[in-house]
Amino acid sequence: MKKCNFYTLLLFCAAGVIVFSSSINYQSVSYKQVDSKFLQDTIKKEAWLAPASADSLKNPLAVSQEYISKGEELYNMYCFSCHGDTGYGDGPAGGSMGIRPANFHDQRVIKQKDGALFWKLTNGKGNMPPFKEALTEEQRWQLIVFLRELGKTE
Ligand code: HEC
Repeated sequence: MKKCNFYTLLLFCAAGVIVFSSSINYQSVSYKQVDSKFLQDTIKKEAWLAPASADSLKNPLAVSQEYISKGEELYNMYCFSCHGDTGYGDGPAGGSMGIRPANFHDQRVIKQKDGALFWKLTNGKGNMPPFKEALTEEQRWQLIVFLRELGKTE
């Protein structure tokens, strides 16, 4: 009788362990799936960092209607095709890209310093072309003035 109890107990323990571990496994697999998708999206969005020194670059242009308009003109020539008419990263040429063009209404972009955005605009990365040669420094700063205005709109 005692022996029987012992084996019954053992059997219950074993069954318990199996059920428990399979539920854990199941949970951790599905958690990992969600997690890696979330991470992929986040990494895609977070990966591009300008060097810390870029933060200290100051926009030499005072914000004015003139620079906003000039920036907008440049944007409509060079940027809208990927970043979209209104800056949501949804331009006609941006759709097929692995890494989507940045959305200028996103807090992640808005929170960056002018200097960091200027540095990225200057140097480019992947599908984002470098504008060091194509645009003068002043034009690139005009674009930053305009991007800041865009970021303020819904
Ligand atoms: C051919 C498509 C294309 C064009 C044209 C383009 N961009 Fe981009 N841009 C991208 C892509 C794609 C990214 C995202 C790159 C990444 O995160 O790896 C990007 C990212 C950026 C970023 C960085 C935002 C961040 O994630 O921190 C800035 C700033 C930017 N673009 C500004 C501009 C401006 C201003 C112009 C026009 C002068 C422009 N881009 C033109 C495709 C483009």
